[in-house]
Amino acid sequence: MKILVTGGAGYIGTHTAVELLDKGYEVVVVDNLSNSSKVAVERVEQITGKKVAFYEGDVRDRQLMKQIFDEHQIDWVIHFAGLKAVGESCSKPLEYYDNNLYGTLVLLETMREHNCKKLVFSSSATVYGNPEVLPLTEECKTGGTTNPYGTSKYFQEIILTDLHKSDNDWTVVLLRYFNPVGAHESGLIGEDPQGIPNNLTPFIAKVAIGELAEIGVFGNDYDTPDGTGVRDYIHVVDLAKGHVAAIDGIKESGRYVYNLGTGNGYSVLQVIDAFGKACNKKLPFAIKPRRAGDIATCYADASKAKRELGWEATHDIDDMCASLWNWQSKNPKGYKN
Ligand code: NAD
Ligand code: UFG
Repeated sequence: MKILVTGGAGYIGTHTAVELLDKGYEVVVVDNLSNSSKVAVERVEQITGKKVAFYEGDVRDRQLMKQIFDEHQIDWVIHFAGLKAVGESCSKPLEYYDNNLYGTLVLLETMREHNCKKLVFSSSATVYGNPEVLPLTEECKTGGTTNPYGTSKYFQEIILTDLHKSDNDWTVVLLRYFNPVGAHESGLIGEDPQGIPNNLTPFIAKVAIGELAEIGVFGNDYDTPDGTGVRDYIHVVDLAKGHVAAIDGIKESGRYVYNLGTGNGYSVLQVIDAFGKACNKKLPFAIKPRRAGDIATCYADASKAKRELGWEATHDIDDMCASLWNWQSKNPKGYKN
């Protein structure tokens, strides 16, 4: 079976490509390298000892997408390609809607033309907005997103749902990720954010290697056990395996939705503590004001994926921090080494 992985040079895409290749799938990657490096694809080949058919280019490029589907008999597409920085999306909404929505439309049209109708989509817990009940199940209300990035994910879910309604031959799998962190055990691939990281764990990792001075904790007056924000962190390798479980497990066309999380929430202070243990350092932090748009608590009910796909996360927060430290300490400049 051949899988097209859009955005396959990126953080989650590379980890997923490794899991697919390890299970014997053939992998084709298209990535415009706007937030990644060709080296990441070479590292995937190094880890697995297998070749990836790599196309450097944009999913909005109809010619290129046609060429890829003409040259390969694609069975499934996993669609990671997109822009993902919440803050940046507020200052560049048109760029975010163009990339994330138009890119998805071109991809889906090309798939339809080539009669390839199976897609796994990278959605996000962000589509639930501010949770009304916890843990979040797949039945919880979606919408109420607070930034163009989140809204683009919500719209993409609607586009895929409408597509499936219009033609039941389609299989659309909406995977709602909670907070992916960590890296492959080899230390050869990992998250390589450009500039100052927006997300908590890459920021902590940069403090641990001495590149940044201290961690800013965005608020300690939330209604949580220690007052800091609580999230459901999931090891990126577990997340990657969730994609393979979906492709392996889904045999009938349909619209499927799964939360991919662990079901456990950790506070910012607990994550700083766990990372400090992983790198054996005392990590300096300071309490800062709340970050606009943040919610207090978010964690998954991930039981549906276990029940229906036989998938569940196996790594805990200590594994996540240890693997991230392994990647960061071996690659202090990311893929630029
Ligand atoms: P990433 O930026 O590392 O990977 C995305 C990849 O897509 C990059 O390699 C980038 O170069 C590529 N890309 C972007 N626009 C493209 C285009 N138009 N054509 C071709 N390639 C393009 O991000 P990631 O963390 O690996 O996220 C992958 C997907 O998962 C994204 O859709 C993201 O929104 C979603 N997601 C991520 C998180 C998270 O916290 N990392 C959480 C929920 C959902
Ligand atoms: N935080 C800090 N300091 C930092 C960064 C973050 O205290 O420097 C806190 C935040 O306030 C929040 C927690 O750490 O309480 C996690 O923040 P992240 O930025 O790491 O993650 P978010 O939960 O805000 O969002 C992430 C992705 C979204 C995705 C969502 C899925 O950025 O794209 O997870 O739940 F949609």
